[in-house]
Amino acid sequence: MKGLKPLVLLFLLLLLFVGGMLVFFWSAGTESRAGQPMKVGVFVYDMSDPFMATMIDSLNLLADDAATGSDRRFYFNVNDAKLSQTAQNRQIERCLALDYDVLCVNLVDRTSAAYVIDKAMEADVPVVFFNREPVEADMEKWERIYYVGTDAAMNGTMEGQIVVDTYQADPDAIDKNGDGAVQYIMIEGEFRHQDAVLRTKASVQTILEAGIRLEKLDGGIANWSREEATVLASGYFDRYGTQIELILCNNDDMALGVLDAVAEIGLDFSNVVGVNGNQECLAAINEQKMLGTVVIDAPAHAELIFDVTCALLDGSDPQQLISNMTDDRIVRAPMYTVTKTGTQ
Ligand code: GAL
Repeated sequence: MKGLKPLVLLFLLLLLFVGGMLVFFWSAGTESRAGQPMKVGVFVYDMSDPFMATMIDSLNLLADDAATGSDRRFYFNVNDAKLSQTAQNRQIERCLALDYDVLCVNLVDRTSAAYVIDKAMEADVPVVFFNREPVEADMEKWERIYYVGTDAAMNGTMEGQIVVDTYQADPDAIDKNGDGAVQYIMIEGEFRHQDAVLRTKASVQTILEAGIRLEKLDGGIANWSREEATVLASGYFDRYGTQIELILCNNDDMALGVLDAVAEIGLDFSNVVGVNGNQECLAAINEQKMLGTVVIDAPAHAELIFDVTCALLDGSDPQQLISNMTDDRIVRAPMYTVTKTGTQ
């Protein structure tokens, strides 16, 4: 009996020590978690796309500004999927495993939203999709998913209106051969991308509805890319020469690609329209090298993404805070046109 006492004492001491260590680690854990910055994962389909790069630069600036001089601490982790949905899914899964607070997702393949939504729902982490719009059925899957983008049909209508206004002011400026019809080329962004489909349709419709006859000479997909558009346009100029009176492009990078071909061949051709409002295009319009563009404003997109994200981080309802958000949790950035004759 006597020999047991030191053993019991030792056991009690051990118990105390282990208990103490447990309390220490537990409290240290909660403390550092509470002090940690909020984590936002930003997933981009392709950072070599200039429009996306401008948007992400603006988003980073907004995050830096908001953190300066405030006790708010957040961390925006930008991931480039480099055009692979599989890579993007992995990036998203990794961030969810690391307890990220909000995901901002620019899908590679807009029809793959369901997979991302299911993963986010399992982890109960809200998602702000941007620029590549999930289909309606996916947006309805959960009330904690949002979309920030542009009104693509309206972009197309405004793009078409640039042509209509120019034609109505001076038909010869567009209908160069005076045959009463406009021979045109359509350069599209990306197969099945909502912005490409809707811009193509609405731009043509707007011109036709204004009573202008259109004749499509040719068209192709250049995947939003300047280089691909140069290749396409060189081929069209080669094939159709001065028959081409107008080139409608789904975005400005492709319009710049057309201008590169124009410069390379040494043509006098400026009936090119685009969408985005990137700086180089605005300069080209100013120099009368291009007809006009619809500015859909990458920084304005970034501001909306940031506002929705901050509302979610604060535990607020973005629908209450963002004035233009629809009942189906979609918010669209403002836009305006810039043409050879000014800004509207
Ligand atoms: C469009 C934009 C294009 C391209 C695309 C990517 O809205 O006009 O330039 O960036 O998004 O999804």
